[in-house]
Amino acid sequence: MSLLEVRKVSKSFGKLQAVSELELSIDEGEVRCIIGANGAGKTTLFNLISGRIRPDSGQVVFAGEEISGMRPPQIVRKGLSRSFQVSNYFPNLSVFQNVRIAVLSRMRKSRIFYWPVSRLGPVNQRVSEILENFNLLPLAEVIADKLSHGDRRKLEISLVVAQEPRMLLLDEPTAGMNSTETESTIHLIKDLVTKLGLTLLLTEHDMKVVFSLADKITFMHYGQVVCEGPPQEIKANPDVKEIYLGGEVC
Ligand SMILES: Nc1ncnc2c1ncn2[C@@H]1O[C@H](COP(=O)(O)OP(=O)(O)OP(=O)(O)O)[C@@H](O)[C@H]1O
Ligand SMILES: [Mg+2]
Repeated sequence: MSLLEVRKVSKSFGKLQAVSELELSIDEGEVRCIIGANGAGKTTLFNLISGRIRPDSGQVVFAGEEISGMRPPQIVRKGLSRSFQVSNYFPNLSVFQNVRIAVLSRMRKSRIFYWPVSRLGPVNQRVSEILENFNLLPLAEVIADKLSHGDRRKLEISLVVAQEPRMLLLDEPTAGMNSTETESTIHLIKDLVTKLGLTLLLTEHDMKVVFSLADKITFMHYGQVVCEGPPQEIKANPDVKEIYLGGEVC
């Protein structure tokens, strides 16, 4: 059964139809990659799924429940999390403090500022576990803003993991990374999928990332799905070649 269903969802900005009667169905445990040129509507689709913007029409259904119309924090609590293209960490706090806030918000402890340090033991332990998983433990005391781009990406993904999602949306997780950082992020994402049994929906322009991660690819153009299928099939599709890949990977 599919975990996420996007049913005839549309969104326009003024005269611009960014997403148009789009349909998408993602199975539990699947890694799906959305590709498409700049402005194809990929980020808008993610915004519609994560509740950041509301569709003009259509429905988004997650785990059998309609989530379109819910607010983002409510959707996160249902198990659908998103890591942003724009950073979502606290730049002036340490790596450890950032992850601790994420762990506490998952536990819905809003009054932590009044807690004695002794009560934070189990929380700190969970934070350490997460940092260890991401090889961030040696950087625990570093202020987030001072991290390298690659380590900051790891921090951002670890903040999402702290929310214990069932499904994760990643919008261009390797944007701006060099090839070493990209390689390590691919490993990290693969690890996440196996360790946590995550269902993953991501967008990427880097075809190396797309082809090394995706079980299935959806190609978007002008807010619509042009075609979808296994990576090899999409790679060979003449429409995708002409509109997007420009022969570079074929
Ligand atoms: N808040 C907004 N207001 C007006 N227009 C918007 C808004 N958000 C997106 N758009 C427009 O909608 C279209 C789709 O944009 P979107 O960001 O979803 O594309 P994308 O596929 O994510 O592109 P990229 O690959 O560059 O990230 C674009 O023409 C964009 O300019
Ligand atoms: Mg985008």
